[in-house]
Amino acid sequence: MNTDDQTPFDLDIDPWRPVFHVAPPAGLLNDPNGLVFWQGRHHVFFQWNPKGCTHENKSWGHRVSADLVHWETMPIALEPSEWYETHGCYSGSAVVDGDDLVLIYTGNVRDAEGRRETRQCLARSRDGKQFSKLGSVIDGPLPGYTTHFRDPKVTRVGDGWRMVLGAQTDGLQGTVLLLASTDPARWEAVTELLEAGEHGYMCECPDLFRLDGEDVLLVCEQRETKPGKGSGNVAGWIAGRLDPASLAFDHGAFRRLDHGRDFYAPQTWEAPDGRRLMLAWMGLPEQDDAPTVAHGWFHCLTLPRELRLVDGRLLQSPAVELEALRGPARRVRAPIVSGERDFPELVGETYELAVALDPRETADLAFDLRVAGEEATSVEIDRAGGVVRLTTRDREGTTVALGEAPLDGPVDLLRVFVDRSSIEVFVGDGRIVLSARIYPSPGATGVRARSIGGAVVAGITFWPLAPRPTAE
Ligand code: FRU
Repeated sequence: MNTDDQTPFDLDIDPWRPVFHVAPPAGLLNDPNGLVFWQGRHHVFFQWNPKGCTHENKSWGHRVSADLVHWETMPIALEPSEWYETHGCYSGSAVVDGDDLVLIYTGNVRDAEGRRETRQCLARSRDGKQFSKLGSVIDGPLPGYTTHFRDPKVTRVGDGWRMVLGAQTDGLQGTVLLLASTDPARWEAVTELLEAGEHGYMCECPDLFRLDGEDVLLVCEQRETKPGKGSGNVAGWIAGRLDPASLAFDHGAFRRLDHGRDFYAPQTWEAPDGRRLMLAWMGLPEQDDAPTVAHGWFHCLTLPRELRLVDGRLLQSPAVELEALRGPARRVRAPIVSGERDFPELVGETYELAVALDPRETADLAFDLRVAGEEATSVEIDRAGGVVRLTTRDREGTTVALGEAPLDGPVDLLRVFVDRSSIEVFVGDGRIVLSARIYPSPGATGVRARSIGGAVVAGITFWPLAPRPTAE
């Protein structure tokens, strides 16, 4: 069974097809777009090339869900059909305007010489299914900026609207622009939220929202890559205070949102109970191949996560709705791990593993997941080195780094979500998160703990995860 009601996949044929993450039936998915709760349902749109696993033909795929667990596939919301979007209906957002759902997105055009044109465009819908395009409301480039000008995120503020946009200055520096309006079709007052020169050569997919008394900006920086320094595309967060009159953003430092290899273009929305939820693309722009391409699809979204800001830290936790995926819990109490210990009772391809740890524990500890012989994906708490590390090793014994984060204190809890070809690790209260795609062999289903020094683990809880049929 798959979360996607209209595309029943054969999980035996495709060992990497997820069962509780949003993934495309075919083609390439990238950024989540237009996240909004409207008329009783969460709407999730996403950048989608339905025609192939390449970054072309960007359209908006569309899913809806009342519970963040069961997803219904809707018709494609936007696809390039007009002169102002010939090379893609790029990323953007959704707002509720009266009875309508309004999408604001970037129309991307390339001319015969490859020169780019970008415009911020509107589309409106009464039923949330069919969208009528209204064309451009902001033509780029704005004076002082290049045509790298995209990804409008619009929010309602009082009686008006506010938009943040990714931009590049004429000096080829990344920044985020803030525009204000009383009508989504007319925009004015451009201010720069970030200092050009400190945020890479381009800023993509900004999002600005109130969280626990502060203004938080999410932004993806594109930086020059240096050999051995990892991806130049980094998604991060910046907390500060936006002056409502001058629109100046007095802010702190950029900090990475997720320390795993595969995380980009996060976007947030507000749940009806006021929680700030976030989804991101579990992939990166420079990736052009993966084993799933042989099965005709590429990439998926992360799990929906709730964000909170506590004592200056951004905490991410899996949306509480995901507990509905849990099957019967299997518990292992007080396992003392010396050397290696296998848990034959904990096997699977889709599960949540919660490991309670004694925060006074000093021994190094690792959990190997999706184990078969040499093959495993490992979450390591390296207390001596002061890091948490995610790696994967294939059948031949080749190890690949999937992420690393500094440990800034004792660890009392690890929560790990495995969905066939993805792993998301939440450390402690969610102050460290690592997300990555993995491609284990179908038979790799084991769980093993390893310790150097004999670690005392307070308890392990394992839940098989699967969406259950809903009552009609
Ligand atoms: C980020 C991004 C956006 C753009 C979209 C195109 O991944 O490059 O800036 O709107 O993807 O698919």
